[in-house]
Amino acid sequence: MCGIIGVVQKRGDVAPFLHQALKRLEYRGYDSVGITTVANGHLYMKKERGRIDEVHRKLNLDDLPGSIGIGHTRWATHGMPSMLNSHPHFDCKDQIAVVHNGVIDNFLELRSKLSARGHTFSSDTDTEVIPHMIEEFMNEGQDLKTAMKNVALQIEGTYAVVAMTTREPDKMCAMRDGNPLVIGEEEGVHYISSDIPAFLPKTNKMILLLDGEIATLSADGVEIEKISDATKVLREAIKVSWTADQAERGGFPHFMLKEIHEQPDAVKNTLRIRREVIAEAAEIIRNADRVYMIAMGTSGHAAVAGQHMFGSLAGILPVPELASDFSDTVYDRLSSRDCVIAITQSGETTDTIAAAKYAKRLGAKVVAITNVVGSSITQNADYSLITQAGPEIGVAATKTFLVQLTVLAQIALALAETTQFIDDYVVSQKRAGLLRLPEIVSETIARNEERARTLAAAYYDRPSFLFLGRGVSVATAKEGALKLKEIAYNHAEGYSAGESKHGPIALVQDGYPVVFVVPRDGTRSRMIGNIMEMKARGASILSVAERGDEEICGLSTQYFEIQTGVEPEFSTIPFVVPLQLFSYYVALKKGYDPDKPRNLAKSVTVL
Ligand code: AGP
Repeated sequence: MCGIIGVVQKRGDVAPFLHQALKRLEYRGYDSVGITTVANGHLYMKKERGRIDEVHRKLNLDDLPGSIGIGHTRWATHGMPSMLNSHPHFDCKDQIAVVHNGVIDNFLELRSKLSARGHTFSSDTDTEVIPHMIEEFMNEGQDLKTAMKNVALQIEGTYAVVAMTTREPDKMCAMRDGNPLVIGEEEGVHYISSDIPAFLPKTNKMILLLDGEIATLSADGVEIEKISDATKVLREAIKVSWTADQAERGGFPHFMLKEIHEQPDAVKNTLRIRREVIAEAAEIIRNADRVYMIAMGTSGHAAVAGQHMFGSLAGILPVPELASDFSDTVYDRLSSRDCVIAITQSGETTDTIAAAKYAKRLGAKVVAITNVVGSSITQNADYSLITQAGPEIGVAATKTFLVQLTVLAQIALALAETTQFIDDYVVSQKRAGLLRLPEIVSETIARNEERARTLAAAYYDRPSFLFLGRGVSVATAKEGALKLKEIAYNHAEGYSAGESKHGPIALVQDGYPVVFVVPRDGTRSRMIGNIMEMKARGASILSVAERGDEEICGLSTQYFEIQTGVEPEFSTIPFVVPLQLFSYYVALKKGYDPDKPRNLAKSVTVL
């Protein structure tokens, strides 16, 4: 969703950097773009609806004077995508510029009060009340920081806000509550952004800004204080291990394809998380009366697979729930004896953070699984496990899904060691199986990529698909369907094969594509029954099966093959890979950009 970048440096124009930084935030999803700089006592602004490259061709985003500036990519919530609704937004005198990510719930009331006092508005956004409120406070003699703190006391909702003014032209202020902001630190330059990749080519030193804090950035330094009581916050910069190269396409046509190819390393690096770190999370989970897993989208599918891993290996059955519906399903029946595992690659999904906060309020322990150090979820968790996928830029989650599954598998084995639900010998076999996965994923990509391209060419124009699995493969089927619908826009449903007879089978007629996920596990013979039912109704059967499983391949119209030796509980990790590749090539065949699917944002930061 909206992306923010701000830069304060001593000399030199910042606009070209802001432009490039906004390109690095494109993955968040947006419909308009804007940049404002301060120079010679004026604010200079260029903004427009459209993709950054289009807007740059039209307006030349590099051509703004000034060594201080802010930039924004907007994902519309309040007001259509348009030039006037694009950020930055100004006050009445064009002296204060503001960019915002989040939603101001009480903006209508604030706007009507401001209008009654003579302020004029040029957009339909909720954001525009902020520069006008700052203007009022500054007119009373307050400096920018104090004015923003007073704004924070009046606005309701969630926000990450960055503001600057011609009246204090050597600094900018940033505050947050519920939406992400990180500060980047370099000698003589400071950055503020929604996400680390925006400034990663310049620095990997970052300082976290937490909810309820305000930062003042100048070229020489950063000061942070609490909005509520002005307490100074002293926080050391931390170095992130991500590199600028990781956030570039590196020769691949799309981030999604690059990230699919990075999966073997992502899994391998995640398997290096120390056993003691995993054991500590397992201990919290094992001591809980009830365990929930909360997540959205792809992370929700990791939760479904996690439930099977915990159940079959450790005899612990967590309940996977959509984070968005969590408070509506548990009816406050949570206590300090319960544990909630929050799974979110970005660590910024508002639904998941809200559910984690809710769980904490009721006393439950929160264990976070996320890919981003210092992200909002880590600030709301009792314990955090950081997956090692490196930055994921493609909107469609791929490598972060595999590393979430890898961490869940590691926790399941740590739990199994203490619950003794399975023998120690079996645990060690499973552990060895986990260690084989990077190589199996690598082989899966090599063996299936060309086939995915061929099948995409044959099936891209089918309007609807069913993806079916049983047991842990329901998660694989659901994820395969989500990938196809989110980047290629084919209607696709992921179901339990058992459930398919209870409704979805009505869709099936001659040539209707049904994708079966069939690892060699206890569900296989029943899956064969389901394949027969679908074949009897004329379906085209596409399957993902173990290499050498001639029965499944013989029953299939087309198939993807996975190397033998996959432990059934972990089968989602390699079996989903051909489905990622298939969706990618279907999107390409249809002429869509898989990295920028319509209407979607990389991290969904509104409820
Ligand atoms: C996945 O491809 C989607 N982009 C989306 O469903 C995503 O998984 C969901 O929004 C959750 O994101 P998170 O893991 O960052 O919380």
